[in-house]
Amino acid sequence: MTASVLVRQGELRTEQRPVPTPGPGEVLVRITSVGVCGSDTHYFAEGRIGSFIVDSPLVLGHEPAGVIASLGAGVSDRSVGQRVSLEPGIPDPLSEQSLAGCYNLDPGVRFFATPPIDGVFCEYAIHPAAFCHPVPDSISDDGAAMLEPLSVALAARSAGKIQIGDAVLVAGAGPIGLLISKVAQLAGATVTLSDVRAERLAVAEKYGATHTFTATDPPPVVPEFDVFIDASGAERAILSGLERLAPRGRAVLVGMGADTVALPVPLLQGRELSITGTFRYANTWPTAIALAASGQVDLDGLVTSVHGLDDVQSALLAGSNLGALKAMVHP
Ligand SMILES: NC(=O)c1ccc[n+]([C@@H]2O[C@H](COP(=O)([O-])OP(=O)(O)OC[C@H]3O[C@@H](n4cnc5c(N)ncnc54)[C@H](O)[C@@H]3O)[C@@H](O)[C@H]2O)c1
Repeated sequence: MTASVLVRQGELRTEQRPVPTPGPGEVLVRITSVGVCGSDTHYFAEGRIGSFIVDSPLVLGHEPAGVIASLGAGVSDRSVGQRVSLEPGIPDPLSEQSLAGCYNLDPGVRFFATPPIDGVFCEYAIHPAAFCHPVPDSISDDGAAMLEPLSVALAARSAGKIQIGDAVLVAGAGPIGLLISKVAQLAGATVTLSDVRAERLAVAEKYGATHTFTATDPPPVVPEFDVFIDASGAERAILSGLERLAPRGRAVLVGMGADTVALPVPLLQGRELSITGTFRYANTWPTAIALAASGQVDLDGLVTSVHGLDDVQSALLAGSNLGALKAMVHP
């Protein structure tokens, strides 16, 4: 099979590799669509994310969908030809965190395209059957791949405990911020979305936001929001969002980038604000599938370019193009 391999920082090469054989409990999936995430771009451009370093060749891509091509021993609840969305992180099912229901926090989780685990910019991959979620035909291949970012959004909604009537501010109108905005609206909130890129706010209304502002020209600070969700990773957005929270407001930090931010302690104390982070997701696929299948969330509307395995570099660099939202790779 053909695989796109990051041989070293900034250098991709297509290689021929053997098609892997599924072990017990696993299935072989022919990959049809993979979403490009900012983390893929970071590994390509910088060769590392925090302590994860690309020090040997790595296949990028962790938002896959595909079709089951063969079954490993003992798999009886999946069938060849079934269309699936792959949940990318494989935890140890007996870890303390898995047993507590938060398998995303298992420190031993093996996650696609996180060194040294290969990702899915390739034609075939093996994966546990339990983490290959069947999808109905009403969800496209790209939509099935984007159940992963939708899952990030659902985890943010849960962490922010968003309820009917809440006023929610979301910073960052990339794919993640737009999907957070949409699931917050579906949960009954009124959503305001901000970005420094005005062009990205053009689709805000379609993704649930009734108010928008450009972060370079923000409105006066009014402490009016029940929930603030950062999907930008920008320090300025985080501090500005905290200032806009009403007493007892809840902040959720989803964006990655601002590794350390000086906390406005008197503000947190004076308004009794709470702050949490989110790390990926757990148990979100059933809800994500239901939202996409029913048409309540339009995942295909986020796709702005499609690339082959010989064109992964353009896919990885597409995010900064004017109007770009989500690049997809079709192996
Ligand atoms: N916590 C998790 O598990 C998790 C999972 C996936 C992605 N992420 C992170 O979520 C973030 C969003 O992902 P994405 O794919 O949408 O990324 P993206 O880069 O496409 O979107 C981020 C947006 O934030 C905007 N932005 C920058 N500075 C801003 C500011 N001061 N105010 C408002 N907006 C500002 C950018 O213009 C951009 O449109 C990224 O940081 C990503 O790493 C976190």
